[in-house]
Amino acid sequence: MTTLSITDGITAVEQILQDVVDSDVEVLRQASQHIISSGGKRIRPRLALLAYLAAGGADPLEAVPMAAAIEMVHTATLVHDDINDHSLTRRGKITVHARWGRTFALLTGDYLFTKVYELMAPYGGDFNVTMADACIKLVEGETLQATAAKSGMMDRETYKSIIARKTASLFEAGARMGGQLAGASEAIVEALSVYAYNLGLTFQIVDDILDIIGDPEKLGKPVGADLAQNRGVMAVQNGDRVAGAKVTVANGGEMVTAVADANPFQQMMARLRDSGAVDVARLQAQETAVRARNALQQIPPSPVRDELENLIDMVLDRDK
Ligand code: IPE
Ligand code: IPE
Ligand code: MG
Ligand code: MG
Repeated sequence: MTTLSITDGITAVEQILQDVVDSDVEVLRQASQHIISSGGKRIRPRLALLAYLAAGGADPLEAVPMAAAIEMVHTATLVHDDINDHSLTRRGKITVHARWGRTFALLTGDYLFTKVYELMAPYGGDFNVTMADACIKLVEGETLQATAAKSGMMDRETYKSIIARKTASLFEAGARMGGQLAGASEAIVEALSVYAYNLGLTFQIVDDILDIIGDPEKLGKPVGADLAQNRGVMAVQNGDRVAGAKVTVANGGEMVTAVADANPFQQMMARLRDSGAVDVARLQAQETAVRARNALQQIPPSPVRDELENLIDMVLDRDK
């Protein structure tokens, strides 16, 4: 009997996220709570819980710790990603490394990762292997991205391989585990996984578009980060280097836009906007969205399936 709605499920996930970062080592507790209580869209746990329900799962509480673990992986990677990307704002607040320094940010990310073991332990072998597989891919994706940025070799194939690993793999894992926990057939689990994987690809392509045309206030994070680091949406022209550009910085947790030596950077942004690269990326996002939509057709119709379908439009249309 389904007693929990998806909203209740997300509330339960929030509670777990808050409660689990309970270290008596103050900096770990404070920095973890800082990033967790900064908000976030919580799209990954929502997806995991919806997949569970769409697959016929009867007790969402069964899937809640897994959904929290998925969000915990994501949160840990954000803390580390912001170090690598030199980002000063995240979710509208100052980043962990900007506030506590790089050492404590690394350790906070590690701490959050270890919490994933704790949350996943009750689920046993196969689920933990799925989770481990997603985490491995995620790290590989971030590494391939850094490698491509260093060498300036970011062609379309490389880009696809990076976003599949660093983003789509975690989306996929949450939906797969949701379907499996619900006891669904192989075919349903596969359909949910293909849907979520393509939703993840769509999500990251849109994120990369927003890095060029988005509003940092709305996004709660800087824009231009990809360009500034010689990587990003469309194998961007590598000959041009950007020097001395500062985008949005945090000041006591508030967003402040301070542009120093802005011209070269803004020119690059404008050139990119005018180059048609964004339109090409948009088409790619629409293509992966269609794949996600097609996969959903193999799931029996239900209000939950409609919610999964709505998620595709939300991802395509999002501005934050
Ligand atoms: C940001 O993810 C990292 C990407 C994979 C693009 P989200 O956009 O889901 O971040 P939050 O959780 O809402 O802050
Ligand atoms: C996604 O890439 C990061 C992870 C999967 C860890 P981005 O670097 O594009 O994410 P944002 O833009 O900083 O949120
Ligand atoms: Mg980043
Ligand atoms: Mg981004």
